[in-house]
Amino acid sequence: MYNGNSASVRKVTVPELRARKGGPKISMVTAYDFTMARLVDEAGVDMVLVGDSLGMVVQGLQNTIPVSMDEMAYHCRAVARGLAHAHLVGDLPFMSYQSSPIQAVESAGKLLKDGACESVKLEGGADMAEHVFRIVRAGIPVVGHIGLTPQSVHALGGFKLQGRGEDAAKRIIDDAKALDDAGAFMIVLEAVPPDVALEVTRSVSVPTIGIGAGVGCDGQVLVCTDLLGMSRGHSPKFAKRYAELGDAVVAAVREYVDEVQSGAFPTAAHSFKPNVPVPRESTRAPVSEATGSSEEAGGDPAMRPAQEGRILRLLTGG
Ligand code: KIV
Repeated sequence: MYNGNSASVRKVTVPELRARKGGPKISMVTAYDFTMARLVDEAGVDMVLVGDSLGMVVQGLQNTIPVSMDEMAYHCRAVARGLAHAHLVGDLPFMSYQSSPIQAVESAGKLLKDGACESVKLEGGADMAEHVFRIVRAGIPVVGHIGLTPQSVHALGGFKLQGRGEDAAKRIIDDAKALDDAGAFMIVLEAVPPDVALEVTRSVSVPTIGIGAGVGCDGQVLVCTDLLGMSRGHSPKFAKRYAELGDAVVAAVREYVDEVQSGAFPTAAHSFKPNVPVPRESTRAPVSEATGSSEEAGGDPAMRPAQEGRILRLLTGG
């Protein structure tokens, strides 16, 4: 496992990930910018996904549908700069691949060329098998995504559990097999019952990655803001919060606001040295506590409050 020491780092490769079918389990997390990418990479995650969930997490949209190719490429590029170890997957956004296998190959190529991704993910099963096949033939590794496919939110009637009931479960298993046959090197299973996910995992030759799909998958993925407890409002049942960074951010910024208002920030420790030496308070003419005026101050005594002494102390660290 990567230990955060970038001098000894080697990138996780697609053949290595494929070979982890059946274990050791694969960890994947989303990231959308350089700072988060560096942190999750240092933590030793195997794969980072720039999900089109960025539409909801970063842009505040209701769903992922409006996210564009250019936006995906922009975020992928930023994340790529932060990864020394983890494999980078980029999501193909809605309507960048569904129209035809040719469109899918061109969009996948764009995410590799403009976004510096190392593989692409797309939503859909048997209906997308031809598209996956063509992308893989172009030399681009593909991750499939079935179960709850958020780009189909309107067709599905909401962000709902999929694969409940025999027919629905069979469709998911068939979709997974179609993606496997088409050459996908990994399949994400979102919001499906754990027994169905286990059955899928046993039915395909490639690793499955679950999100709301139970422990039977070959790996797991979570959205970084869910994992870190930064999401506000509703969180999906499967989103375990490993920290409460949202509360920590609010508390830290609240303290900053208070210190700015009170003048407690910045102190000399967070300031540069003054341009000209500032006389120490003790070398100055005595300041009247009552009026704040001094013999050398001149002008309106009210404009020379005792606060001046405090500002000088802050500047000089005295
Ligand atoms: O867009 C995304 O973040 C995803 C994950 C939830 C799998 O597709």
